Amino acid sequence: MHCVRSVAPDILLVGASDRRLALFENIYPIPRGVSYNSYLVLDEKTVLLDTADSAVSARFLENLAYGLNGRPLDYVIVNHMEPDHAASLMDVLRLYPEAQVVASAKAIAMIGQFFDGDVSARCTAVKEGDTLPTGRHTFTFVMAPMVHWPEVMVTYDTADKILFSADAFGTFGALNGNIFADEVAFEAEWLPDARRYYVNIVGKYGMQVQNLLKKAAGLEINLLCPLHGPIWRKNIAWFVEKYQRWSSYTPEDKTVAIFCGSVYGNTENAADILAACLADRGVERVALYDVSHTDLSHLVAEAFRCSHLVFAAATYNNGIFTPMETLLLDLKAHNLQNRTAALIENGTWAPQAGKLMGELVGGMKGVELLTGTVTLKSAVKERAGLEALADALAASLK
Ligand code: FEO
Repeated sequence: MHCVRSVAPDILLVGASDRRLALFENIYPIPRGVSYNSYLVLDEKTVLLDTADSAVSARFLENLAYGLNGRPLDYVIVNHMEPDHAASLMDVLRLYPEAQVVASAKAIAMIGQFFDGDVSARCTAVKEGDTLPTGRHTFTFVMAPMVHWPEVMVTYDTADKILFSADAFGTFGALNGNIFADEVAFEAEWLPDARRYYVNIVGKYGMQVQNLLKKAAGLEINLLCPLHGPIWRKNIAWFVEKYQRWSSYTPEDKTVAIFCGSVYGNTENAADILAACLADRGVERVALYDVSHTDLSHLVAEAFRCSHLVFAAATYNNGIFTPMETLLLDLKAHNLQNRTAALIENGTWAPQAGKLMGELVGGMKGVELLTGTVTLKSAVKERAGLEALADALAASLK
C-alpha cells in the first residue's frame, strides 16, 4: 500500500525510509534509519526528481504509481547518480517508457556505467542555468560538483522557490510520519545525525559546498528539499548557517573533545584526569571518547564540532595505538582544519605515539599543536603535566 506525503499542493514525496539497514554506504551506523526522498511534481508535465535505493524500490514504485494516478511520467530529473538515489532509475524507465531523463552530462555517463541497456537516446544533458518548463513550474539546473559526487546538480523551481538540494542539507534518520523539519525536534534529536552525515559524506569537500552555498545565497528559497531527512520550510537560515560552519571548518562549540586510545586503562586515566582538570577551570561540555568503543563516524563529527582536540594514545607496535591512528587518518581524509590540538602519549619502554601523532596532526591545515606533549611511562605518576595541559587549553579557550 502506498505511503505518499504531500510536500506542496502539486508536489508529493514518493520516496521511502529504511530502518533495516545497519550501515549506510556499508560503513556508517544508522540506528535511526535513513530516508531516500524522491519528489513527484504533478504539473502539465509530470516530473520525478531522483528515485530511491534498491532496498525500498518496491515501496517507492508503488508510491510513484499512486502519485501519478494513471498519468504518464514525462521527466526524471537525476540530480545525483549514487545508487542510494539512482538504483531504481532503470525500473522507472522500464515502467514509464515515455519518461525522458534530464541530468548533467557526467550523470548520463554514469547511467551507462551502472546499468546494462543503452538509454542514452532518452537522456538530455543540461548545464548550469539551463531550464525545463513543465507548465506552471520552471526548473533551473545548478551544478554542484563534489557535493557529493562530480555529476551532482541541484534543481531550483522558480515558480514556488523550491530548492531540490540533492545530498546537501540531508541527514541520517528515517522519516517517521513528520516530513518537515519544523514538525520534529530537529536541534535536539536530529542535529547530531545531520552533522555526522555532513562530515562523513561531504566533509572533505568544504570548498565545493561553499561554492554551492554562494550560488544558493542568490536564490529565494521557500522550501528546501534534500534527498535524505526532513524538508525545510521554516528557519532555513539556521540550517544554512550550520552548513556555513561545517564547510568552512569553523568549530560550532568552544570546548574540548578528548579522544583516548587506551590498552589497559592507564591512558584513559590520564584523559579522565585532564577532563576533571578542565572542568575545575570552568570549561563546560567537555567531551571524552574511547576511540576503541565509539564509532569512527561519531568521532570525526565530534572533531568537526569542537574547537579544541586532545589525542591521548598508547604506543603500539612501535606506532600509534591502531584505533587512534585510524581516527587521525580519517580526520586528515576529511580535511579537518582550524583547530587547536594537544597530545598525550603512553609507552612502557619506548613511547612513540606522541611524535607520530604530532606528524599526522601537524599535517592538517590550520591545526595549531600546543607545545608540551604529556608523556606517561605505563601510568600516571604525577598530575603536574596534565594540570599544565589543562591550564594551556583553558587559556587558549579564552
Ligand atoms: Fe545520498 Fe551521495 O548519496
